[in-house]
Amino acid sequence: MTGNRSATAWAPASLSNLGPGFDALGAAIDGLGDTVRAEETPGETITVSFDPEGAWVGPVDPKSNTAAVAAGHVAASLGYGGGLHLTIRKGLAAGTGLGSSAASSVAAAVATEQLLGGALSQEDMMAAVVAGEAATSGQAHADNVLPSLLGGFVLMRSIHPADHVRMEGWDDLGLIIVLPKAEVMTREARKALPDMVPLSRAVDHAARLAMLAGALQRRDVRSLGRWMMSDDLVIPARHHLWPYLDEVTDAALESGAAGCTISGSGPAIVACYDRTKAGLRESLQAALSAALRSAGLEGGVSIHRIHNHGALILDDEGVVSWRTGDPVLLPNR
Ligand code: HSE
Repeated sequence: MTGNRSATAWAPASLSNLGPGFDALGAAIDGLGDTVRAEETPGETITVSFDPEGAWVGPVDPKSNTAAVAAGHVAASLGYGGGLHLTIRKGLAAGTGLGSSAASSVAAAVATEQLLGGALSQEDMMAAVVAGEAATSGQAHADNVLPSLLGGFVLMRSIHPADHVRMEGWDDLGLIIVLPKAEVMTREARKALPDMVPLSRAVDHAARLAMLAGALQRRDVRSLGRWMMSDDLVIPARHHLWPYLDEVTDAALESGAAGCTISGSGPAIVACYDRTKAGLRESLQAALSAALRSAGLEGGVSIHRIHNHGALILDDEGVVSWRTGDPVLLPNR
């Protein structure tokens, strides 16, 4: 298929929920993400392949592949009825809690938009990436796809109308991600949740998320850490999925983290800390690696920051730009 017109995009991995922000809060992270190349092909079908050198290889059925579903929505919105081939290079495996399917969905949608020379409205682009996410997770939640598309922290209520607020990560906010070698599929984890909660619990939950939003607005690492550990609705219902969570959280707090919680439906755990404190990053990294081992788990511990750029378009010369076409000078990806 070489010689056909193509476009390539990269989209970051993301944290979601961050405690009481279930389905309503997510954040893009640097250093991890998926790349998708979209190529025009003869015919009218969308086909998918995975770059074998990526971190994961998944199913290629275009009806259930998140990238194909998102690209199909973009193509339809732009009135394109021709063929497409998507090559997905995964930067992270599925089932990590770090927005793996969302990163593929967003990168595919942005690459397809770029290839077809269109400019979707914000709402149409959001609808496309949410449809891609729904193809794998079973429900149209946007707390991974919106941060992956837009960058930074994103608080959201709905896609139609587009009710969301984007906030940037800031300098002294550091993140450490603990990723045990385990897989939790969001579709299954969602089955553990109650269908209904009493009004008093709903009010309490809303109040905790409001405190968390306030911490983000004030750029207060300690308060962010406090409130991201405060979920009393979703995490207790899923706690059995992460038998190591308490041990890792204790180790993070004892070593000076401001807070620690599960990301999305796990298994990834994220701790936040003050980057300006000398030596804290190193001691946290050592403590969390030891906690992982002591819980009998293999896996990795990595250092991150919030990725404020969102999805990026990559050209053949390695020049990087936003969807708007503006060049990105210092992408921290
Ligand atoms: N909000 C979603 C959930 C995120 O917790 O089910 C999945 O990563």
